[in-house]
Amino acid sequence: MQAYPPIVRPPAEAIGTLALIVGAIALLIFIGVEGALIYAVWRYRASRSSTEQPARFERNTRVEIAWTALPALVLALVFVLMLGAMAEIGGAGVEPGLRVRVVGHQWWWEFGYGAVTTANELHIPVETAVELDLTSTDVIHSFWVPELGGKSDMLPGTTNHLRLFARRAGVYEGQCSEFCGIEHAWMRIRVVAESQADFDRWLAAQGQSAAARGGDGERIFLANICVNCHTIRGTTAAGAAGPDLTHAGARATLGAGVLPNDVARMRAWIADPQQYKPGALMPRVPLSDPELDALAAYLVSLK
Ligand code: CUA
Repeated sequence: MQAYPPIVRPPAEAIGTLALIVGAIALLIFIGVEGALIYAVWRYRASRSSTEQPARFERNTRVEIAWTALPALVLALVFVLMLGAMAEIGGAGVEPGLRVRVVGHQWWWEFGYGAVTTANELHIPVETAVELDLTSTDVIHSFWVPELGGKSDMLPGTTNHLRLFARRAGVYEGQCSEFCGIEHAWMRIRVVAESQADFDRWLAAQGQSAAARGGDGERIFLANICVNCHTIRGTTAAGAAGPDLTHAGARATLGAGVLPNDVARMRAWIADPQQYKPGALMPRVPLSDPELDALAAYLVSLK
């Protein structure tokens, strides 16, 4: 039982408050030291004609103790404030309202909400403490959405935790911030913060399997190597190396931010991913023009 309800706010605000307090302390010290210096220079200046020797003294134990103890006290105060800010950013005493599994891949993001898996676009409800469980399948990545939280490395074989908190609905941009190979720069994170009702609707929709349509696009997808890497729930495609495409059409971008998502761009992307994201692990699939048209239309229709 806690005496006071914990304050929940974006981690950037906790860091901002700490920066202001430490800045104010530094400013006070600056004014004190410079003021004392200017006063001493003025007060004890010698006239040009003076032949007097300046006063000397060898030690002053009280002054020495004071100028050792005071800075130590100030640093101790800053240290304690910093521990408080770190605990707050880490979510101490606050149960997360949502937990999301995040897996880094070269070069895209996998987001898991229980049994629902999606990619590259993280949805969260506003005014909710969100805990991310971060790991990686290949190399070290780093998760960073500056407006919503701190930064944490994602290490293969280990799970790190990071808190996000969004006060206002909107789209927040993030970026992998650990060099992880040739397409590190195109490992964008798009966070959509929305009302609890919108988030619930989105999650329910993401939980639906794709309706089997039996159209050309679906047939082409299932007949080619697409299925080795991608899953479309509701079909036989169950690859796990690339992003889950069950709701590929609901996402705003392709290739973790490389292209906006529409039929024309989807077609261009499938026709030659290397043109847009050189080094990406998605190969070029030999398909005819009509096949590309049908496949792109099918994938974008998966909302
Ligand atoms: Cu992943 Cu840089």
